[in-house]
Amino acid sequence: MIAVTQQQQLQIKTLSGGYSLSGRVKVPGDKSISHRALMLGAIASGETTIEGLLLGEDPRSTANCFRALGAEISELNTELVRVRGIGVNQLQEPADVLNAGNSGTTIRLMLGLLAGQSGRFFSVTGDNSLRSRPMSRVVQPLRQMGAQIWGRQDGALAPLAIRGQKLQPIRYNSPIASAQVKSCILLAGLTAEGKTTVTEPALSRDHSERMLKAFGAEVSTDLENKSVTITGPAQLHAQKVIVPGDISSAAFWLVAAISVPDSELVIENVGVNPTRTGILDALAMMGADIQLQNERVVAGEPVADLRARSSQLVGCTISGDIIPRLIDEIPILAVAALFAKGTTVIRDAQELRVKESDRLAVMASQLQRLGARITELPDGLEIVGGAPIVGTDVDSHDDHRVAMSLAIAALNAKGITTIHRAQCAAISYPDFIATLQQVCT
Ligand code: S3P
Repeated sequence: MIAVTQQQQLQIKTLSGGYSLSGRVKVPGDKSISHRALMLGAIASGETTIEGLLLGEDPRSTANCFRALGAEISELNTELVRVRGIGVNQLQEPADVLNAGNSGTTIRLMLGLLAGQSGRFFSVTGDNSLRSRPMSRVVQPLRQMGAQIWGRQDGALAPLAIRGQKLQPIRYNSPIASAQVKSCILLAGLTAEGKTTVTEPALSRDHSERMLKAFGAEVSTDLENKSVTITGPAQLHAQKVIVPGDISSAAFWLVAAISVPDSELVIENVGVNPTRTGILDALAMMGADIQLQNERVVAGEPVADLRARSSQLVGCTISGDIIPRLIDEIPILAVAALFAKGTTVIRDAQELRVKESDRLAVMASQLQRLGARITELPDGLEIVGGAPIVGTDVDSHDDHRVAMSLAIAALNAKGITTIHRAQCAAISYPDFIATLQQVCT
């Protein structure tokens, strides 16, 4: 038997085992695509419509920032959001500081757009977590394009102030595989005259490239050299965007189904863009029984239903080019490794230290509290599967993916697990707890 309750904290009570998970789950819209649809809609000419938008806190931050910059964005809902755009270089000077909340994608992509708004002044900030995350990774290349940006530690940390300038195109060799860095520079390249190219050490998610092309920009990808080029100046034209379900949210149910005995879950309408499916490849390496059904392409993005069943998992090593393809799924992958036979090693994942929390440190400390044999490495985690997991008090450190990963770990814990600060799940998955209650009954 299992009981999921939420008052101040999320409490998961497992009694005597013998329960299983079953049913069909609809995950919310993809977070990365939701941000981009709002932003490109805001700078396109005409009315963009968005179906399936994620109603999480992060896209709300994007919508509020772009409203303050002059775009008309209707009330957010999952059915149909209307965005009346104002043009690529027509963003208005807002009357107040733009607040990106907890969202790295909002602040970094928006900086790329603000930098080229000649003659206008902007200031941007975020919550405690975002104000401690590195901004030099975008500020540096933007300055190479001629951007004027000021901030704490020479622009390394928000709050930041931007005076819009006419930008020059660049060829930028990014030291990190980051879609936020790549997208920021491509968006800045929209107003620069000529070709702006970004090369990355491994391919990161390509939603910006796909959507910029759909909105009419000239974008070319050189897969062999891992580079993308945009030609500016560009005008964008409103589109109809249909947002698929978020594979990063689906990952929690995949791991729930494969780790709880006698379970089967079907997760419907999940985006399976190859730059995002590293989690499917990693779980397949671990022996997970996950099948893709109904594969189709919706509005330029591949989509499928995923059927996951209880599996005997084995440990494996996950490192190298797959890491950017599953960067947000590493916390839940660490949970899957708890229930695998043998050792799982995750390396080359030092980027996790600068996410919403230091996810390597936080996942290691919180899973240890539950009894896991997990060691923090400088750039990853080592997990010896099979240690008995026992419920206790754990803390999300206000990181949405940590909160949800701990909840899935708790499904296989003996006794009561109390997850403190679990309400942050609403950053990317407002219905997570309701869905957890649904699949557990
Ligand atoms: C995102 C890119 C990734 C990811 C984040 C969303 C995006 O960040 O972790 O959740 O929408 O571009 P990095 O680009 O910093 O790796």
